[in-house]
Amino acid sequence: MKKIAILTSGGDAPGMNAAIRSATKFAIYQGIEVFGIRRGYKGMVENDIFKLSGKDVSGIIDRGGTVLLSARLPEFKDPEVRAKAAANLKANEIEGLIVIGGDGSFHGADLLYKEHGIKVIGIPGTIDNDIIGTDYTIGYDTTLNIIIEAMVRLRDTATSHERTYLVEVMGRDAGDLALYASLAAGGDGFLIPEDNCNLEELARVIKLRREAGKLHDIILVSEGVGSAYELGKELKELVNTELRITVLGHTQRGGAPSAFDRVLATKMGAKAVKELMAGESGRMICSVSNKIVTKFIDHAWNGIEDKTQKRKDTELAHILSL
Ligand code: ADP
Ligand code: F6P
Repeated sequence: MKKIAILTSGGDAPGMNAAIRSATKFAIYQGIEVFGIRRGYKGMVENDIFKLSGKDVSGIIDRGGTVLLSARLPEFKDPEVRAKAAANLKANEIEGLIVIGGDGSFHGADLLYKEHGIKVIGIPGTIDNDIIGTDYTIGYDTTLNIIIEAMVRLRDTATSHERTYLVEVMGRDAGDLALYASLAAGGDGFLIPEDNCNLEELARVIKLRREAGKLHDIILVSEGVGSAYELGKELKELVNTELRITVLGHTQRGGAPSAFDRVLATKMGAKAVKELMAGESGRMICSVSNKIVTKFIDHAWNGIEDKTQKRKDTELAHILSL
């Protein structure tokens, strides 16, 4: 393996830069030339490929976003578009590709491997923590901390006005951000796709809390269950507290990555290079019980998820909301 390339694709996530840095520095140390591809698969199709040096990745470990830029290219589902991208990679004599992104990006990587024999390794980079097979994805921990900080700020004003806040957080179809932010910051209720979205039960909890003398309610709403504005209208019919809605939006994706994400990304970046050097392909890097391992990339969507712990954590978080 003489030349490899790295791209970031889909929604950016804090810590992606730490993975780029680690993979680049580790590969250069092993005598491998490293190329960056701008804007994910878009840059691959447009041949926007450039050589990365150690200097290019210095000073980026603590920066959010991705220095390689990210994009979504729906046309990548078209085999002809993928063929063009693969041809560009081959014309640049690039033998291995590291794709940092979510399961959508991994689908694209899997197809590049299966259709064109390109050696690909996926690194899970998404704030959603929705990739089956890895305990954590890069960016998730940072976003969790951002949500917790927002909850603490909201609690002050919520208490002063004795209000109920519905706080909409990201996560696509996964409720991890809402559930674990609720556990970590002592949330007062949550609505997540993995649970039944029961507004009557939520209204009952709010009523009980107020009877117990609580002055506020901070309720996390995972975007996967719907708009907090729409749910707020329905909830308003069931409670007599003053209601406010806060959508945290893209503030959740910005800023310096947490120490956890930096370490995770750094380990995963180096492991991806090691896998390519060992001739592996069609694999994704996973963190399982604090060990960095690899699995088939399609495990990200075909694997069977063990939901036992999440169910237990959900039950606990409901109890602690009261
Ligand atoms: P994420 O990687 O964060 O899940 P997306 O689902 O938006 O983000 O996917 C990112 C990109 O990956 C898409 O814009 C597209 O270029 C590529 N992609 C997604 N799904 C597929 C697919 N089924 N086949 C080929 N490429 C895909
Ligand atoms: O997948 C990451 C994510 O931030 C999701 O949580 C969210 O639904 C989506 O991306 C937002 O995408 P965009 O940045 O295109 O608005």
